[in-house]
Amino acid sequence: MKKYRVGYTAGVFDLFHVGHLNLLERCKEMCDVLIVGVCDDDYVINIKHKKPVFAENERVRILNALKCVDRAELVDFKITDDKMLALEKFHFDVLFSGDDWKGSERYNKTEEQFSKVGVSIEYLPYTKGISSTDIKNKI
Ligand code: CTP
Repeated sequence: MKKYRVGYTAGVFDLFHVGHLNLLERCKEMCDVLIVGVCDDDYVINIKHKKPVFAENERVRILNALKCVDRAELVDFKITDDKMLALEKFHFDVLFSGDDWKGSERYNKTEEQFSKVGVSIEYLPYTKGISSTDIKNKI
């Protein structure tokens, strides 16, 4: 039996690469149902100040085609920024994130909020040496 029933993780997942795959496979090892929130193009443009190479609908399609993902859906700025809204929408038992987010202001706040409602956060190891930004720069 897996540790959790429903798990949730979120990200841009542009130029889908093995770091993304490692993360999602580790998530799926720990939960029966894995839901992925895919940040929409507006979020990436306005918050990360860059335009994704792959458009939002293409990024969602790639994630939905993966064996380790049960459901991928676009999420807007509000749901990306406020994980309590993500929880209301997707009703998960655990939030997974790369450990590059551990200790950030957003996740410290989320840890506090989730501890009150009994939802867990699991930080999974970030795969070193690869990122969408690196790939874009290399190309
Ligand atoms: N991730 C990971 N290992 C990597 C890259 C990403 O574990 N080498 C994880 C992140 O921690 C996050 C998810 O994958 O939980 C989606 O990350 P995203 O920001 O879309 O990927 P990056 O490749 O890091 O993109 P960027 O270069 O734009 O920051």
